[in-house]
Amino acid sequence: MATNALKTTPLSSDAEQAINALEDARAGTLALVAHLDEEQLERVHSPIMSPLVWDLGHIAAYEDLWLAHRLAGMELLRPELAELYDAFETPRAVRGEIETLRPAEARAYLADVRERTSEAIARRGVGDGVVCEMVVRHELQHSETMRQTLAIAGLLPAGDRSKIGRPLAALAGPELAGHELAEPELAGPELARPEEWVEIAAGSFMLGAGPEGFSYDNERPRHAVELGSFAIARRPVSNASWLRFSEGGGYERREWWSDEGWAWKQEHDITHHPAVATGQAQAPVCHVSWFEADAFARAHDARLPTEAEWERAATSNQQGPAGIGAASSQPSLVGIGATSSQQDLVGIGAVWEWTQSCFHGYPGFEAYPYREYSEVFFGERYRVLRGSSWATHPRVASRTFRNWDLPQRRQIFAGVRLARDV
Ligand code: AVJ
Ligand code: FE
Repeated sequence: MATNALKTTPLSSDAEQAINALEDARAGTLALVAHLDEEQLERVHSPIMSPLVWDLGHIAAYEDLWLAHRLAGMELLRPELAELYDAFETPRAVRGEIETLRPAEARAYLADVRERTSEAIARRGVGDGVVCEMVVRHELQHSETMRQTLAIAGLLPAGDRSKIGRPLAALAGPELAGHELAEPELAGPELARPEEWVEIAAGSFMLGAGPEGFSYDNERPRHAVELGSFAIARRPVSNASWLRFSEGGGYERREWWSDEGWAWKQEHDITHHPAVATGQAQAPVCHVSWFEADAFARAHDARLPTEAEWERAATSNQQGPAGIGAASSQPSLVGIGATSSQQDLVGIGAVWEWTQSCFHGYPGFEAYPYREYSEVFFGERYRVLRGSSWATHPRVASRTFRNWDLPQRRQIFAGVRLARDV
């Protein structure tokens, strides 16, 4: 039926683009689970993650709620599923115990919702396009969440496995291979080599996303912040450096850990994540918690950057002389072009980067379009991550995007880039 509607209705280019974007996101979602059997889809692979089949039903319910119901004014297709697939009503911890749609039913639900949303879009357009973009990005964000689950289960599709833990030189391309990207010996004074640090002078900086284009409510409003001078590491910390930290007593030296971090580490007998030892030595470390990142920084006489420092450093090459330019975000962070200068940060887009900052609303924050996207997570519990990872779709990666997670979490594809005062 959707295809008929598309054939008979002359589509506005906005509607056509919207439908294409939705279709691309869907192709990605389905490719991610194509190789899985029912048991793998329904199993709870980790108590902190949903069964994959829940993500599928949730993606469908979200699309039906925002596009068919709220945007196009239709009744929900399956109102009886709304609560089950509402992330807030049904938190991750209980998603394995309750009855959800079976895999074939979840796939049919996805297809049935898509049929009516593409019909509605073809008929009435997407308005200003914001809600539709949110729905596209929602599905893309869940594909990263699902990759976290798949990584825990050892079930990542082959194409993904080849993207994990690539050494920086490989990420940067041949123009940056060689001595410039030689592994810094992070065990001590070597880190102080000036070329490994990018120094940023004190000054005023415009933090957050401007009014143009799509951004999430938590990235707005853009506002001035005063930053002191600081230095930020040109590259993220590698597996090799992390192993040296671990073997050098990193997990035993109480003085490097926060009280909370130490308590967490003791309670769960934490040492470095297995991926640190199995990964390539030169690849950015991945699957580290905020607590570990914080301890690592202290062990190196450094600290984590604040999120404002991170954004300042990550956008400095995109701004005018005053340091306040129009473009503070760009569509994709992945890859480092041939124009990369000494001032550019290397490796953004390989792993999420923990910041020192707790997740708060910017001054003047207004929830849009619903409080449960960000606002309910504001406070001292969650820490902000910046950048993106190998598992992030370029459409959702931007230099103003704020990700957040609890400080003990290691399922996220997160590493660390150090900062220090100068
Ligand atoms: C931005 C990744 C923290 O997974 O909780 C998915 C994205 N929001 N569905 C999350 C999200 C609603 C969000 N993160
Ligand atoms: Fe969601």
